[in-house]
Amino acid sequence: MGQNTLIIYETYFGSTKQAAIRIAKILAEDFNHDVTLHNIGKNQESPETENYDNIIVGSCIYNGSWACHADEFLTRKFEGKNVALFVCSMFAGENSLYKKAYLAYLETILEKHRHIKPISMEAFGGRVPQREYPEQWVMHVANKLPNFTTDNRTIDRIEEWAKQLGTVLENKVIEEVQTI
Ligand SMILES: Cc1cc2nc3c(=O)[nH]c(=O)nc-3n(C[C@H](O)[C@H](O)[C@H](O)COP(=O)(O)O)c2cc1C
Repeated sequence: MGQNTLIIYETYFGSTKQAAIRIAKILAEDFNHDVTLHNIGKNQESPETENYDNIIVGSCIYNGSWACHADEFLTRKFEGKNVALFVCSMFAGENSLYKKAYLAYLETILEKHRHIKPISMEAFGGRVPQREYPEQWVMHVANKLPNFTTDNRTIDRIEEWAKQLGTVLENKVIEEVQTI
């Protein structure tokens, strides 16, 4: 029987949802996981985590922070579960800023939620949908990016990470079986 995996994500304009769906598809199709996707945004109940082997939590980044419901979800206890984290952000999609983004949005969230010990984390690029955002918001991000683009989503990296994660989780189960 496959592993049970819960993917929690929070998105304002869809790029984090897109990443979550991509990850879900790869874990389900290539690694036989039974995957549940849950959008933890506004008006959505926080789901039960008891029946899952793996919990993956993804957030969009606005003004340097995780979205609040995903952040809040990390205060929960995940004893005995494999936890993985990801974010979608414009800076993470820019090569020269990727390391800083990884540090600022992933390492920092671990300092805040010290009980979380993820087996893997990754920061993906993002998209600023200009139609929905007022121009000054777009410029707020644009000013800080050396090569500004409104779309630097990194689909290849999402797929690569999902495959690496699937392999790590598979090996973990094999190790556990071998130690019985
Ligand atoms: C007002 C505003 C603030 C933002 N702040 C940041 C930021 O601090 N760092 C960053 O890397 N990206 C930032 N972004 C870009 C978003 O992280 C990016 O658009 C992401 O893909 C949004 O995810 P979503 O589509 O799931 O909502 C910002 C975008 C806007 C419009």
